[in-house]
Amino acid sequence: MESRTSHKLLIYHSDSKIYEEIISKRLPQLKIHSAAHPKEALGFVEEAEIILAWQIPDEVLKRAKRLKWFSSIGAGNEDLVKNLYLPKNVTLSKATVYGEMMAEYVFGYLLYFNRHVAKNLKDQRKRVWDQLRPGRLRGKVLGILGLGSVGKEIAKRGKQFGMNVLGIKRVPEPVENVDQVFGSDDLEKMIPLVDYLINVLPLTPETYHILGERELRLMKEGSFLFSIGRGKTIDEKALKKILQTKNIQAVLDVFEKEPLPSKSKLWGLKNVIITPHVSGINLPEEISEEFVINYKRWVRGEPLLALVDREKGY
Ligand code: OXD
Repeated sequence: MESRTSHKLLIYHSDSKIYEEIISKRLPQLKIHSAAHPKEALGFVEEAEIILAWQIPDEVLKRAKRLKWFSSIGAGNEDLVKNLYLPKNVTLSKATVYGEMMAEYVFGYLLYFNRHVAKNLKDQRKRVWDQLRPGRLRGKVLGILGLGSVGKEIAKRGKQFGMNVLGIKRVPEPVENVDQVFGSDDLEKMIPLVDYLINVLPLTPETYHILGERELRLMKEGSFLFSIGRGKTIDEKALKKILQTKNIQAVLDVFEKEPLPSKSKLWGLKNVIITPHVSGINLPEEISEEFVINYKRWVRGEPLLALVDREKGY
């Protein structure tokens, strides 16, 4: 039997009103307060048992004395796991809805390159009829750094395209749709084998700058790097150097500093595509759906889905 208690939920986000509208329809028994700025949250946060938020200022979080569950809108929660205002007895869960969206981003660009989209458009404008043979994804090697909820969605689509899928996992064990799983110590073995290196690693002390000059130099001539997890897992200075000296290409969605400073050399490199941290972006409908499922588990006293392991950091 589900509890009839009216739990108090604080939604803190720039789109908090949209979230409130969706969730209040699905869970009318909840007492919801939405806020987009600290001063809008302050009157309510003391009472809140649940917070649904992404980045929440400390001045708000430190007042959440009744908090039992922080449901993060983000996939990577490297700041929350070490936030002193989020005591260990507060359950921390993350969003896992980003995998499909981020896989679509990756395959959008893989097809863009292999089907010569940019060249065909350019030719069209000049009324040129030039039948270039496409590249094929079938048989190419996809190497995924990080086989969590995002990496697994990318692997699944890689298999559907007939690719040979390799992956790195902290504790190597068989993963569906991955032909070969390497441990984190085997990074240097895997990198030279891959045509497309997809970095979706979370940021932890172990993954900080895990791709440095040595690792990036191991990339095959003509291969591609995708960075869509956390910018700080790549040594950006080393990356710039490699991109200027080696025949590789990069699709970069995340950076050491965001927004990417306008003076960064990366903007001007011909072998780089830059997007503004949009490969996985919160969609209120999808995030709310996941929250509603978890809320129902919470009131039934069942273990929540997508818990963050504070020790591991993700
Ligand atoms: C996330 C992100 O982790 O947006 O959710 O990067």
